[in-house]
Amino acid sequence: MTRIWKQEDGMKEAAEALTSGEAVAFPTETVYGLGADATKEEAVQKIFDAKGRPADNPLIVHIGDREELATVAADWTKTAEKCMDAFWPGPLTIIVPSNKNAAKNVTAGLETIGVRMPDHPAALELLREVKLPIAAPSANSSGKPSPTSAEHVYQDLNGKISGIVDGGRTGVGVESTVVDCTSEVPVILRPGGVTKEQLEEVFEEVRVDPALSDEEEKPKSPGMKYRHYAPEVPLLLVDGDDERFIAVLKAYQRKGDRVGVIASRELAAQLDHSRVEVCGSRLDMTEVAVELYEALRSYKQSDVDVILAESFEETKVGVAVMNRLKKAADRVI
Ligand code: TXA
Ligand code: MG
Repeated sequence: MTRIWKQEDGMKEAAEALTSGEAVAFPTETVYGLGADATKEEAVQKIFDAKGRPADNPLIVHIGDREELATVAADWTKTAEKCMDAFWPGPLTIIVPSNKNAAKNVTAGLETIGVRMPDHPAALELLREVKLPIAAPSANSSGKPSPTSAEHVYQDLNGKISGIVDGGRTGVGVESTVVDCTSEVPVILRPGGVTKEQLEEVFEEVRVDPALSDEEEKPKSPGMKYRHYAPEVPLLLVDGDDERFIAVLKAYQRKGDRVGVIASRELAAQLDHSRVEVCGSRLDMTEVAVELYEALRSYKQSDVDVILAESFEETKVGVAVMNRLKKAADRVI
């Protein structure tokens, strides 16, 4: 049985479950995480089992207090300090040298560890109550879109985890930005809620892992090599302008396929189609980020054969949105 705790009154029980080595889902500002005591191997194993996650994909450790960083990391750089000063609590994960105190399945054999302090009252309350570093990947079945509500977690993990703290819908909608802070120049390994533009306000130079734009390169973030965020039905990411999208949609309509569309308000207004998931305005990509996973999850095999998704401009959080759409897509057309 998976229990549901309300943010207002269930936090004590949720904290007790974590302390006793159970896996518990909780909201963060990005997506829901599935947490367990990062210092106990058996507790962490429950995360991998519930999600069906490949063992070579390391987990992010969540802390409620900056002092706690020293429980799992050592010898971190000035770069890491600057990231924490500027963006914590918030959607940025620093990659720093591990001090080997975390259970070995957390880091999947790497010398480094990913750590972040989430900016969500329920997550912070829980972390400060347990006073333990908590390993927490997104609380979805491996491969599926990340959960932005407690219902999404329930759909994927009911019966497989001890409980879920229900804190309503999450605010950012895409995961944290993973930044390698092991050398002077920060390197973005996964785009996310903190944008490259925001990092550039703090650092003179910001690099991006070449694997993010070149499929031949081996990603430094192991998770980036896997198929991710996939909806139940094939998703085609449509390149080009609105006119082209309209033409592609018409071609699918003529074939008689049941088509689902994921589009901005601006494109949706020009479409003559009944099944459209509108995810905000493309003039404000933070809205699109918030709605994206809900839109991907809304399409079921029983109602559509294919999903056509709009391509968005790759600036600010649009970079993270397009990164997720490309990973979710069967192909770009
Ligand atoms: O917003 C988030 O980051 C959410 C919430 C729950 O905090 N968590 C999340 O975790 O997205 P997950 O497991 O779905 O993604 C973690 C990513 C993976 O791509 C993983 O490979 C990378 O972080 N990662 C973790 N430790 C790493 C390390 N030491 N070096 C490089 N990449 C690492
Ligand atoms: Mg994930």
